[in-house]
Amino acid sequence: MQLDGRIAIVTGVSKGIGLELAKLLLEKGMQVAGWSRTAPELTHDNFFFTPVDMGVEEEVEKAYQATVAHFGADIDVLVNNAGYGAFNYLEQFDSAAWEKMFAVNVHGIYYVTKRVLPNMKQREYGHIVNLSSIAGKNGIPQGTAYCGTKHAVRGLSESLYREVKDHNIKVTCLFPGSVDTHFFDEVKGTEANPTMLHADDVAQLIVHQLEMPDNFNTSEVEIRPMRVKYKAP
Ligand SMILES: NC(=O)c1ccc[n+]([C@@H]2O[C@H](COP(=O)([O-])OP(=O)(O)OC[C@H]3O[C@@H](n4cnc5c(N)ncnc54)[C@H](OP(=O)(O)O)[C@@H]3O)[C@@H](O)[C@H]2O)c1
Repeated sequence: MQLDGRIAIVTGVSKGIGLELAKLLLEKGMQVAGWSRTAPELTHDNFFFTPVDMGVEEEVEKAYQATVAHFGADIDVLVNNAGYGAFNYLEQFDSAAWEKMFAVNVHGIYYVTKRVLPNMKQREYGHIVNLSSIAGKNGIPQGTAYCGTKHAVRGLSESLYREVKDHNIKVTCLFPGSVDTHFFDEVKGTEANPTMLHADDVAQLIVHQLEMPDNFNTSEVEIRPMRVKYKAP
């Protein structure tokens, strides 16, 4: 896809991978609608921020309507990046916290994708990128909830890829290992550090996937840091 002049929604835009991606897409000449609960430190003529809690469908509907009012309905790229991880032993997991993570990491993707897809299908054009994780392929002790959400993202993505490819819509699911972002701020026992993947490099990889020729469809990409060292906080 030639990105110049096209329209993207990036969820989870306030920091981390989403913020780096928004900056790169703007550099490429895209119009970018950024969605998250808090606003990023980013001002640009082609950037439109709308606040949203991705786990609440009514808020996603409002963010979608605000985006369409600003840029129109011809969304070319949707990057489902918003998400977070909370870790605990299954029986000690608070039920509301469990449900909230599934709401944000999984239902949020469904809420926005179902709104964007009809237009993409009508135009027979679009690219959806979903952020799973290595945790979407492996299990981690105390990661039943987070791994559950990221395995769900993989299943959703694989199924959607098959559902929409004949409508000329691409679906790419990313499986990054540890990335040096705010993700680890609330994760006990692991501190983000520069031996992890860097958010701007992951963002660059997403841009690369978006820019591949129209007949080139990357359904899955697994990315790992070379020699990550975990620092206990
Ligand atoms: N960092 C890693 O090691 C790693 C590895 C594999 C996959 N991932 C995945 O990559 C994605 C981006 O994470 P990151 O590493 O960039 O972490 P991050 O720096 O913590 O950024 C997470 C983004 O998600 C947004 N978000 C969280 N809850 C939200 C909600 N309820 N509604 C709307 N937006 C919400 C945050 O914005 P607000 O807080 O302002 O709402 C923020 O912009 C996530 O899906 C994560 O699971 C991360």
